[in-house]
Amino acid sequence: MSVFVDNLLRGKVAFVTGGGSGIGRGIALRLAKQGAKVALLGRTAEKLEAVVKEIQAAGGEARAFPADVRKYPDVEQALKSTVEAFGGLDIVINSAAGNFLAPAATLSANGFRTVIDIDLCGTFNTCRAAFEQLSKHGGSIVSITATQAEVPTPLQCHAGAAKAGIEKLTRDLALEWARSGIRVNAVAPGPIEDTEGMSRLAPGDVQANFKKRVPLGRYGTIDEVCEAVLFLVSPAGAYVTGATLLIDGGTSLLGAGPFLDMMG
Ligand code: NAP
Ligand code: COA
Repeated sequence: MSVFVDNLLRGKVAFVTGGGSGIGRGIALRLAKQGAKVALLGRTAEKLEAVVKEIQAAGGEARAFPADVRKYPDVEQALKSTVEAFGGLDIVINSAAGNFLAPAATLSANGFRTVIDIDLCGTFNTCRAAFEQLSKHGGSIVSITATQAEVPTPLQCHAGAAKAGIEKLTRDLALEWARSGIRVNAVAPGPIEDTEGMSRLAPGDVQANFKKRVPLGRYGTIDEVCEAVLFLVSPAGAYVTGATLLIDGGTSLLGAGPFLDMMG
């Protein structure tokens, strides 16, 4: 259950990339529960439509805009359609990402570039396309990064580089856009249960040891990531910009330790 009062975001419009599944879906549902109208972007229309239906069934407003974050004109069009449908734009969440386990020594150049393109360039594309509208009345951007941005992590050099880039971009945009009334922050989750990310990145045999090593003794939940995002986009976060908030149960305090099993 949320610790926040209801309808904290009444009258606001939120745009969530990667909103069709996992953490992005959770954030979309949470923002809608707080009264925001929510636009969802992802490549798979059916996934987005299912979340739209969930939000509508709970009495909220939502629309799906299938698109690939790597294609700037398509992202720009989705944001334009969002403003036409809902009358404005206040909140942007960058949750779209791609990742897989691959040793750097054999990862192809295109594999590396693909993840940079989705995560880092996709985040820039969305922020850039949203700037004009957000700057009209002020707004808030939150990007979902990962502890891999800071912690050396085997088999994920592509995602680590992309997420580190997003955290740097977060600070640069926060500085450049503060006077336009736009706050720009990031949330860096550690291992979050019941997500595509964890099923891809921590195969079954690695999970038991990994979980034991998390200082708080368990994986986090999608809800716990949503609470952090809600704090950042709500009035409670009004003086926060350029920050990356770790939601990782202390995992990154151990450095690469918990990941070393993956090296074999
Ligand atoms: P997920 O369910 O796979 O979410 C990623 C979403 O991004 C999907 O809905 C996917 O939908 C969308 N997407 C992928 N490529 C896209 C593209 N090119 N254009 C538009 N949308 C695209 O995975 P998740 O685990 O919830 O991850 C969500 C976010 O949390 C990611 O940023 C991830 O890096 C971050 N994170 C997750 C964890 C974890 O433990 N799970 C930990 C740290 C950080 P389509 O395939 O339909 O496009
Ligand atoms: N190991 C090594 N390389 C891989 C790989 C893997 N598991 N999966 C993909 N690649 C490489 C491909 O071989 C290709 O490189 P190549 O042309 O040199 O062969 C490159 O990555 C692009 O692959 P492609 O399948 O064409 O990319 P895509 O744009 O269709 O999909 C991915 C993007 C690969 C990131 C895909 O996994 C995806 O769509 N992920 C979204 C969901 C997700 O990752 N969720 C977890 C978020 S933490």
